[in-house]
Amino acid sequence: GRVAVLMGGTSSEREVSLDSGRNVLEALRARGIAADAVDGIPNLVRELQDRHFTRVFNILHGHAGGGEDGVLQGLLEALNVPYTGSGVLGSALSMDKIRTKQVWLSVGLPTPRYVQLGKGADVHAAAKSLGLPVIVKPAAEGSSVGVSRVYSEADLDAAVALAERYIDQEARGELLMEQLIEGDELTVAVLGNVALPSIRIVPKGQWYDYHAKYVAEDTQYLCPGLEGDAEDEIRRLAVAAFESAGCSGWSRVDVMRDRATGKFYLLEVNTAPGMTSHSLVPKAARQVGIEFEELCWRILETSLD
Ligand code: DAL
Ligand code: MG
Repeated sequence: GRVAVLMGGTSSEREVSLDSGRNVLEALRARGIAADAVDGIPNLVRELQDRHFTRVFNILHGHAGGGEDGVLQGLLEALNVPYTGSGVLGSALSMDKIRTKQVWLSVGLPTPRYVQLGKGADVHAAAKSLGLPVIVKPAAEGSSVGVSRVYSEADLDAAVALAERYIDQEARGELLMEQLIEGDELTVAVLGNVALPSIRIVPKGQWYDYHAKYVAEDTQYLCPGLEGDAEDEIRRLAVAAFESAGCSGWSRVDVMRDRATGKFYLLEVNTAPGMTSHSLVPKAARQVGIEFEELCWRILETSLD
């Protein structure tokens, strides 16, 4: 059968997804797999009939037309077409950073304190209750789109206005305000149900933002990111975060480590993480001897159930 490598779409992360997708397509073909690029969900629906794809490698990022939020997964379940990555529940939950945190808190996993900002929320009262600095973000975005760190109350309204630009007004009118954890930014790839070595990200500028993620060549990545017990602990937390959010196949769990206390805080699970040349999952895999082609093959294997 043929594999559809589903990429692109209409989310704010379209360009990132096309970049990821081209890399995946090339890797699968190099492995002798019959694979074709498909751009976005409407084209997939058409091409599933015409081209007889038997499997989907989903590398669409983001929500709505993005394909990382459970809608695509439900469609493919209904059509009985196997696909990579998490199912409906894990995808939908993980796309919503607020509900993900609620699940983690309910099972005793650590995540920064937060306030859910609905329409008309008193953002100044919310910031006061958390204490500055805070981070403001859309509840369902990726790649740091619409994210601001706020150190001074004077900057709060601008941060909220920016995040609001990325809200899907019909589906999820929600923003997340979180206590800003200052310290190390870490991420853990989960492949199958096993954590790969953590990566510690050291951006040249102050933040690992969109530019530091995809453009800058001077962002530093340390892998493994930690040593000894701390490395064991972050991997254990990542697998617990992944499993409690109902995820399967593969993902990448983002974590902060408080500089002062050494305590870990889970931020989110990315269920279709980036596979660009700058991306993190390929770096973690390489650390344990899994080259990019092999990684793509292993991810594809997770669709065989
Ligand atoms: N949302 C981007 C693609 C990532 O998590 O890698
Ligand atoms: Mg993300």
